[in-house]
Amino acid sequence: MLAFHDNGEGRPIVWIHGFPHSFAMFEPQLAIAGFRHIRVDLPGFGASPPPSGEHSIADYSHEILDVLDHLGIAKTIVAGISMGGYILMQILRDAGHRVDGVILIDTRERADSDQAREDRYKTIAGIEKDGTAGIVDAMLPKMILNESRRAAFREIMASATANGMIAAQRAMAGRPDSTATLRALKAPALIVVGDHDTIATVEDARRMASLIKGSKRAVIENAAHASNFDQPAAFNRAVTEFLGTRFGSK
Ligand code: MLT
Repeated sequence: MLAFHDNGEGRPIVWIHGFPHSFAMFEPQLAIAGFRHIRVDLPGFGASPPPSGEHSIADYSHEILDVLDHLGIAKTIVAGISMGGYILMQILRDAGHRVDGVILIDTRERADSDQAREDRYKTIAGIEKDGTAGIVDAMLPKMILNESRRAAFREIMASATANGMIAAQRAMAGRPDSTATLRALKAPALIVVGDHDTIATVEDARRMASLIKGSKRAVIENAAHASNFDQPAAFNRAVTEFLGTRFGSK
């Protein structure tokens, strides 16, 4: 079973981190009151051991559903950032009836282009040859714009294992397109993006919002890819407003 962290009381929200992060990236979101925050560590990140072999986006989805079963949670809001968003869209396909709200953060519904897939295999080769530090250093400025938040975020990224990172890159390369999944979505949805995100852009967020009827979109100013950690106060305001209008406080 994945490691998970269960804080607060109220309607549950499952937070799914991105690459190469851990549950700790959602520490600032514990300040969102009136909800039960369940933060998972994907395999090879945080306290979850790396996967033993090949992993697919569907495997991550099943592992999160196992955590929900373990906790006896039938229905939940699901929030996923970037790779966590790809997994969230897979959960919608696997168990959409268990999702009563969606928060898509700095992510996109499209599958990888051939070029993006090729880049991932280069990343994997780099990790196999030189370890994880190079990719962490290269990604950090794209994750966090706010200099004073970078050291803490680097620490989160530095805890990722090589096998966890390699499995995640392979899984992301093989993920399906989720356009039809978002078109079919009926649950309340919020799409959040940092205005300086170059990995999943404001344009990606706009396109996803146009696919989901009745969705809300929030652009976080002065934030890069990890918008929830880069500008936690503005991010939490946007999420709190969405939760308040769609779910009340619980
Ligand atoms: C992430 O933050 O999860 C990754 O940058 C997503 C990706 O590589 O597509």
